[in-house]
Amino acid sequence: MDNNFDLVIFGGTGDLALRKLYPALFMADCDGRLHREGRIIAAARQTLDDSAFRTRVSEALSRFIPSMVTSAGEARVAAFLSRITYLALDATNVEQYRALKASLNERDSQTVFYLSVGPSLFPAIVGGLKAADLNTPDTRIVLEKPLGRDLVSSREINDLVLGAFAESQVYRIDHYLGKETVQNLLALRFGNTLLEPLWNRSWVRDVQITIAEAVGVETRGEFYDSTGAFRDMVQNHLLNLLCITAMEPPSSLDPDAVRDEKLQVLRSLKPWTRESLRENLVRGQYRAGLLRGEQVPAYTSEQGVAAGSATETYVALRTEVGNWRWAGVPFYLRTGKRMAERRAELVINFNPPPHSIFEGVLAPNRLVITLQPEESVRLYTMAKAPGDGMRLREVFLDLDFHEFFRERRQDAYERLLLDVLRGNATLFMRRDEADAAWRWCQPVLDFWAAEGGTPIGYAAGSWGPPASSRLTAVGGTAWHEELQL
Ligand code: BG6
Repeated sequence: MDNNFDLVIFGGTGDLALRKLYPALFMADCDGRLHREGRIIAAARQTLDDSAFRTRVSEALSRFIPSMVTSAGEARVAAFLSRITYLALDATNVEQYRALKASLNERDSQTVFYLSVGPSLFPAIVGGLKAADLNTPDTRIVLEKPLGRDLVSSREINDLVLGAFAESQVYRIDHYLGKETVQNLLALRFGNTLLEPLWNRSWVRDVQITIAEAVGVETRGEFYDSTGAFRDMVQNHLLNLLCITAMEPPSSLDPDAVRDEKLQVLRSLKPWTRESLRENLVRGQYRAGLLRGEQVPAYTSEQGVAAGSATETYVALRTEVGNWRWAGVPFYLRTGKRMAERRAELVINFNPPPHSIFEGVLAPNRLVITLQPEESVRLYTMAKAPGDGMRLREVFLDLDFHEFFRERRQDAYERLLLDVLRGNATLFMRRDEADAAWRWCQPVLDFWAAEGGTPIGYAAGSWGPPASSRLTAVGGTAWHEELQL
């Protein structure tokens, strides 16, 4: 790693930092990709000294990446911890940013401010950085989602940040864009000639994008209850996956070349109408149920969740990308907590053969790109089953990336943090993208707010409310797991 750096993590004692950021930085360090003198400064409200805080990070590493810690050994862990210093800072006290400035001024390094805090603290932190003149043109600022609750509040946040930093300094993170398979989708689409001629309305019948989680709201009940699945997952992760799937080939991997094409997709999403809001949108909330043989409670019994809460834990929707490539092709998006299994995947269903010379039904070809739990690409095709006659069966060509590439996968946060340190913004959202995504989402939020009502219940451990199957059935298709062999 070439650049020396000072990475300041606001919210440095928080769940995201301990669960994701330090483990990601540790893994990058083990691979020799952090500059020898690079420093991590954890800033948070609590009074702690360096040594107590380092113990906390060490425990987090052992908890979240135990095998990496064991194989790296104590000396490496100690070397990593020695990069970390702790700064007790009340984010709302402008004076305290001076101490931060004093420690940063001593060094010739790339400064990055990572705001791993709720958006309510953004004004104080950005104001503090500005008051201490820490927002110099060579610094970078990373913003964690959620960037607001709606179009208006996200614009306020962006205006605020852009009042202190230039757009080129701002890195809006969406960790789904850092996942290996998402980049493999770029490779698959634009590094090969095979698929691109088929990647359009003439050959594709529908596209399905699913992020299903088996976990519930865990310790984040309060946050989640005021957020819901639509803001938490659809507005960012699902729309980003849709953009990478549907975008035109960019002229290069240059940040703006890629982001311009993603923006075009967001701007082409079919606007919601009264009718489509009623017909193409399903919201659900999990009830008690059995998940992998274990009884789990209803959402409304989770800690931090209001009794009788109407927050959705599941969303399924149908939309279209209104351009020449995709006109008329349904894009089905869905996400949910406490679903039957953890599975994130993109499914491209191709048109069925126009005429069959065989007995029985021919299943249309499907390309299934799985992001998690394992990364794989499968192309489902029809083949003759052994034996008499011409009975066809569905089989698949399987590209298992774990089988093929033995090297360790970079974690999404690891890749994105390194990108920030190197100044590569390709996998980060530009302001106009964030704006376009919220603009498309806003009518849904307004509709639910006006309509009131409650989400449809679904049993924990299921694939969501039956209404979501009706959504695909109307379009003459079914969700991928309903089509499984
Ligand atoms: C986060 C959401 O952005 O993504 C969480 O806030 C969700 O609610 C998480 O659990 C899912 O990420 P991953 O990488 O585990 O699929």
